[in-house]
Amino acid sequence: MDRNKEFEQTLVLIKPDALKNSLTGYVLSLLSEFHTGLRFAGAKIVYVGRMLAEEHYAEHQGKIFFPSLLEYIMGKLHYPDEPWKRRVIALVYQGPDAVQKIRDICGPTNPLVARDKSPGCIRALGTLVSLKDNNGKVIGERMDNLIHASATNEDAEREIKLWFKPTDIPPFMRAYPIEMNQSSYYFEAGSLYLTHEPARICLLAPGDIAWKTDIDALRLLEKGLQTGGSLGSVAAKYLINTERDVE
Ligand code: CDP
Ligand code: MG
Repeated sequence: MDRNKEFEQTLVLIKPDALKNSLTGYVLSLLSEFHTGLRFAGAKIVYVGRMLAEEHYAEHQGKIFFPSLLEYIMGKLHYPDEPWKRRVIALVYQGPDAVQKIRDICGPTNPLVARDKSPGCIRALGTLVSLKDNNGKVIGERMDNLIHASATNEDAEREIKLWFKPTDIPPFMRAYPIEMNQSSYYFEAGSLYLTHEPARICLLAPGDIAWKTDIDALRLLEKGLQTGGSLGSVAAKYLINTERDVE
């Protein structure tokens, strides 16, 4: 067995438009082990807060569609008046060529291109939505394309560690190194703390298992207790469904 191939992982998000259109079962069928040879390594229903959304799509910061993309992945566009329906399904798939196999089944990013070039792919069922400025002038478009899938193995590692704790994944399925944490780490309003206060949420307690890269980042951050991007990427998964990243 080629361990590296067998353990290749990718992150899939079933986005709010797919949930609203009740396409979950269809998507899961297309991605099933029978069709792809890939296995589930993790699954969760996630209320997507702004911090998680910004971290997930950090590479698109500054682009014209970025604010709208955040509202889309947060579920605010498809469920403006029903916050309790805002969620995505986050999945980790594992097996040989996981990244490329799932990208192929998803198809091109733009649903119009997907329909043209790759009929039958998941994103061929997506839609384009016009983006307008305050005067109603069309300034661009957003692509509602039903599903996210990691684009490269590097993206997959970053994204899986952003959405999942090691303990969300069965021990023998974990692809990235873990470590036992020895310190107490708390979070409040974008900052890291080493002591508890009522408003602070505990990220990690001594004895908790965490991604090794996260513990390395926290050790650096605690020296200066700085805030910033790297704290968000560590903290976001610990705030999932806690109501701390809710608006
Ligand atoms: O999702 P994928 O990796 O295929 O595409 P991306 O270029 O990384 O963009 C991330 C997401 O932003 C897309 O899936 C679209 O939902 C959205 N997007 C958009 O709305 N308008 C664009 N011009 C490009 C991307
Ligand atoms: Mg991408």
